[in-house]
Amino acid sequence: MRDTICFTLNGKTVEVQNPDPTLTLLNWLRQTRTLTGTKEGCAEGDCGACTVVIGDPDATQTWRAMNACIAFLPTLDGKTVITIEGLAKDGALHPVQRALVEHHGSQCGFCTPGFVMSLYAHYRNDGAVDEETLNDVLAGNLCRCTGYAPIIRAAKAMYDYPKIDEIALAPSAKEDTLALSKTDPLTGTLKKYFAPQTPDELAALYADHPEATILAGGTDVGLWVTKKHAVLETVIDIGRVAGFAGILKTEEGLSIGAGVRYAAAHAAFGDLHPSLGEMMRRIGSTQIRNAGTIGGNIANGSPIGDMPPPLIALGAELVLRQGETRRRMALEDFFIAYGQQDRAPGEFVESLFVPAMDPAARFAVYKVSKRFDQDISALCGAFFVRMQDENVTEARFAFGGMAATPARAKTAEAALMGKVWNETNLRAAMAALAQDFTPLSDMRASADYRLQAAQNLMWKFYLGEDAPYLARKVHHG
Ligand SMILES: Cc1cc2nc3c(=O)[nH]c(=O)nc-3n(C[C@H](O)[C@H](O)[C@H](O)COP(=O)(O)OP(=O)(O)OC[C@H]3O[C@@H](n4cnc5c(N)ncnc54)[C@H](O)[C@@H]3O)c2cc1C
Ligand code: FES
Ligand code: FES
Repeated sequence: MRDTICFTLNGKTVEVQNPDPTLTLLNWLRQTRTLTGTKEGCAEGDCGACTVVIGDPDATQTWRAMNACIAFLPTLDGKTVITIEGLAKDGALHPVQRALVEHHGSQCGFCTPGFVMSLYAHYRNDGAVDEETLNDVLAGNLCRCTGYAPIIRAAKAMYDYPKIDEIALAPSAKEDTLALSKTDPLTGTLKKYFAPQTPDELAALYADHPEATILAGGTDVGLWVTKKHAVLETVIDIGRVAGFAGILKTEEGLSIGAGVRYAAAHAAFGDLHPSLGEMMRRIGSTQIRNAGTIGGNIANGSPIGDMPPPLIALGAELVLRQGETRRRMALEDFFIAYGQQDRAPGEFVESLFVPAMDPAARFAVYKVSKRFDQDISALCGAFFVRMQDENVTEARFAFGGMAATPARAKTAEAALMGKVWNETNLRAAMAALAQDFTPLSDMRASADYRLQAAQNLMWKFYLGEDAPYLARKVHHG
């Protein structure tokens, strides 16, 4: 039994006894350590003012920019945490800071620590400084006064300054030093926090505590605490489960652990199809993609989650596990009704299988949102067709934002089955879409807009590779 967590903060080891399992890193830094350089803007992962850098020698990506406002303190056990206060050495600014100063990248300064930390993570990962890459790196940081052009100019120049000593990556926490382990909860608080390390431990734990909240990246769960003030009595953090963050590529397809983060899955999905990679580039921001998992996006059952439509169109299958029992199902069958998924108490998402793209098939996914990145979809359409000669032999069209769950457009698909892939038949399928869905009007889009946009996405898919789905919008500057 342990009651203490331990991690490295700005190069020094710290121990925290009896932390509230849902205390955010941001609140702990500001209120307990008086490290107020890390700011709170939105407390929901949107503005980037709270960005810190997490180092993890075991992760696929060593240095990650993260939103401290939605990161729970115990998830940092054994990791290296760097805040804005840790960058300057002996009065010398870090190259990223110098670049910001000398390129006039700050005015009121409120957003500046967050920008610095996003760039610092990129710097430590030796990231490229072309404008397109930097736009992605900084898409999760908002500035209300400077304007982005000087910040981008500073980012391009950050490698030009003399290097200074960097905070070292703490060695990987091993069994004897890891405060949270196996099936013992973090004790010393009324709430329970478990950090299982194997799928078997997780399965046993969740079977014993079906009331627990599973915590993956926390990009949904974090907001329940910061925005809805939810009290989570029992949390099972799956972030340390060995093998959960693995991707296995075979000739048949991709097997993806439920705990694989967007950032880690991006390349593999992009290889499957470029439009999928492009769509994932637009999920949240760098900070959100460094935390959020594919499993979490499926398990939360949101009708506007971005991964289910393309995965359903690609024919993905889900593996669920409860205790020792596993079952496999088509992903589309998982979503039953709004807020209701085919998941029993104590059952969790273990992995996902995505079949390899058949060269004879065509696929594309398109996300429609008001902003290019860091925005939830108004709708998302994903299309898969297989043809023999000129005739459609298989069609899966899946949409988000059109119904209470991610769902296939089965009438539209049927309108094309066995038919020639031509404009007349495609137009008939577009019209049939109105029988598949009666979308809602809400703040993201009206019902009319959604239906017409969904039809237009089908048309865009028909037009094919020449359709400008890869058109990129410059969003900073
Ligand atoms: C600023 C911001 C921007 C965002 N932008 C987008 C976007 O563009 N597109 C989009 O689709 N989403 C977006 N999201 C939502 C969120 O990032 C995703 O839904 C994410 O995939 C959730 O994964 P997570 O690992 O963070 O899940 P968590 O928050 O940890 O968990 C989410 C839910 O899934 C459950 N859960 C997690 N893993 C499992 C499992 N293996 N088995 C069973 N249950 C599990 C949890 O108990 C919880 O109910 C955004 C969120 C924020 C805060
Ligand atoms: S405070 Fe806005 S992203 Fe954390
Ligand atoms: S410098 Fe004022 S918000 Fe960016």
